Amino acid sequence: MSSTLFSSLTSKTAIVTGASRGIGRAIAIELARQGVHVMLAARSEGQLKVAVAEIEAAGGVAAFSVSDLRDPEAPAGLVKETVAAFGGIDVVVNNAGATKRGDFLKLTEADWADGFALKFFGAVRLIRAAWPHLKERRGSVVNIAGVGGRTPGAEFAIGGSVNAAMLSLTKALADAGIADGIQVNAINPGPVRTERLEVRLQALAEQKGIDLESAEAALQRQMEVARFGEPQDIADLVAFMVSSKGRFFHGSLVDIDGGQTKTI
Ligand SMILES: NC(=O)c1ccc[n+]([C@@H]2O[C@H](COP(=O)([O-])OP(=O)(O)OC[C@H]3O[C@@H](n4cnc5c(N)ncnc54)[C@H](OP(=O)(O)O)[C@@H]3O)[C@@H](O)[C@H]2O)c1
Repeated sequence: MSSTLFSSLTSKTAIVTGASRGIGRAIAIELARQGVHVMLAARSEGQLKVAVAEIEAAGGVAAFSVSDLRDPEAPAGLVKETVAAFGGIDVVVNNAGATKRGDFLKLTEADWADGFALKFFGAVRLIRAAWPHLKERRGSVVNIAGVGGRTPGAEFAIGGSVNAAMLSLTKALADAGIADGIQVNAINPGPVRTERLEVRLQALAEQKGIDLESAEAALQRQMEVARFGEPQDIADLVAFMVSSKGRFFHGSLVDIDGGQTKTI
């Protein structure tokens, strides 16, 4: 594939969760562009097939696993499949996440359990199953958390709590990773242009009777950001972080959010 910046990534292997669309898809494609053999995981077989075909058409190497990562057995199964397909694991990117927004008093037990089951426990289980393989290869973990982990908000009680837990987990495992030679970091994206943001912009445009461009400008002002992010912004950071050039990132919780996080 073209545009290889990080030769240290050639023929490494990575698992990317939530790779059927949005940020995870961009991460998988970017890592493949850098020569990584990528296992893409999510539930939507059709979208995974399209992403793998795109990688292969550009000369990359990829496979997919149809996994519901809320299932406690799924992460270990994903690790097994990856080792069988590629012979080992160098990089794990925990990106899959779907937490419900809304009024705290209306969010149900099931909403809370579901949010933690996928993004937090899915990551815990995947890292635990992959750890011996990562140790063998002095590999890397990247947890895609989110700005809500540092800056909670009333509408985002579940997402903020899950992301804060991810940040704490990242620090704990980075500490363990010093002894085991495994690099562990987290990235906090701000508003990134994926399906969820598009839906929000559409709703705002309809609600205010304005066009999409004006809705975008209004939401940017409201969120106090320089611009919205693109999935590629996050993918580029992941590729740098897990390359040899990014190895001194360790236990880092990196905000990439257009200035949305105001605190130090
Ligand atoms: N976009 C943003 O502005 C933003 C900001 C901060 C943080 N983040 C975080 O970044 C990550 C990606 O966000 P995104 O906007 O790219 O999300 P997205 O477009 O909604 O994609 C979510 C991905 O997770 C997968 N997924 C959902 N449920 C799953 C399950 N049970 N098992 C396995 N995979 C599952 C989805 O695939 P299937 O439906 O095919 O399973 C999809 O590939 C999330 O963790 C999110 O919290 C995003």
